[in-house]
Amino acid sequence: MKHLISVDDMTTDDILEIFDLANQFQHEQLVITKQLFAANLFFESSTRTKTSFVVAERKLQIEALDFQPEQSSINKGETLLDTVKTFEAIGADVLIIRHAFDNWAETITPHISIPIINGGAGKKDHPTQSLLDAYTIYQEFGKFTGLNIVIAGDIKHSRVAHSSLEILEKLGANIYVSGPEIHMDEISHYPYIPIDEAVELADALMLLRIQHERHEASGEEVGNYHARYGLTIERERQMKKSAIIMHPGPVNRGVEIDSSLVESKRSRVFKQMKNGVYIRMAILLKLLKKWGIIDENDIEKR
Ligand code: CP
Repeated sequence: MKHLISVDDMTTDDILEIFDLANQFQHEQLVITKQLFAANLFFESSTRTKTSFVVAERKLQIEALDFQPEQSSINKGETLLDTVKTFEAIGADVLIIRHAFDNWAETITPHISIPIINGGAGKKDHPTQSLLDAYTIYQEFGKFTGLNIVIAGDIKHSRVAHSSLEILEKLGANIYVSGPEIHMDEISHYPYIPIDEAVELADALMLLRIQHERHEASGEEVGNYHARYGLTIERERQMKKSAIIMHPGPVNRGVEIDSSLVESKRSRVFKQMKNGVYIRMAILLKLLKKWGIIDENDIEKR
């Protein structure tokens, strides 16, 4: 694992090591004593991912460099690659990048000599979200084999769905997709089940927001979504006693999920966000060590 661009970059052992580190960060404070800088280059909107990276960096005592694309030299015609190379030249030790292009990493990684973490690539990949989703499930059930996990919603346009489906399959869970047929991937090999079956089958049911911003053509919008495809109060009552509800956020309350269920006993929505900090601390530490930017002598227990 040199960079973290997609789930493909991680072996199962890498994933389990990240879970162990995240678990360690939940119970003890580790800091990096060497001065390091992390550049958080978010060219697309973010609340959770960006903020949890900043918190993860600060907890590790890495200095977080902020970047506002609307106030940057992007406005003067600077390219994505030149922006990234600028941060590397100025002194960043690790880069976190989110961009609307699916394949931005292919044009960036060959030219950069510090670790890069994908904070979201178009509709293609969101590996750190998939790690925190899988970690949340692992905390709950302690295993993946034999679990039925349903991801329901706009699969085709969701980078979270693509990465989470991939990681959960890699970890051995039984995966299903649900939602409007028009929002399913044409090439997806995951079995489709209607939402009324999904609620009865799922051990973990992950709802997704409709990705309106990635619907290039009209005609993909779905009317009466909540009643037809969403997690209504009535459907929640059909779920197994032990089943959990997940959502990567942001949530459109009353569309993919009834608003009251976001705070329900089954909901792990806020746990996912909290786990995002520990998972991102673990990824930062693992990559900085892998690149030899830090070693054990630069890590101190507080
Ligand atoms: N889940 C997620 O990526 O949220 P943000 O867009 O707020 O970062």
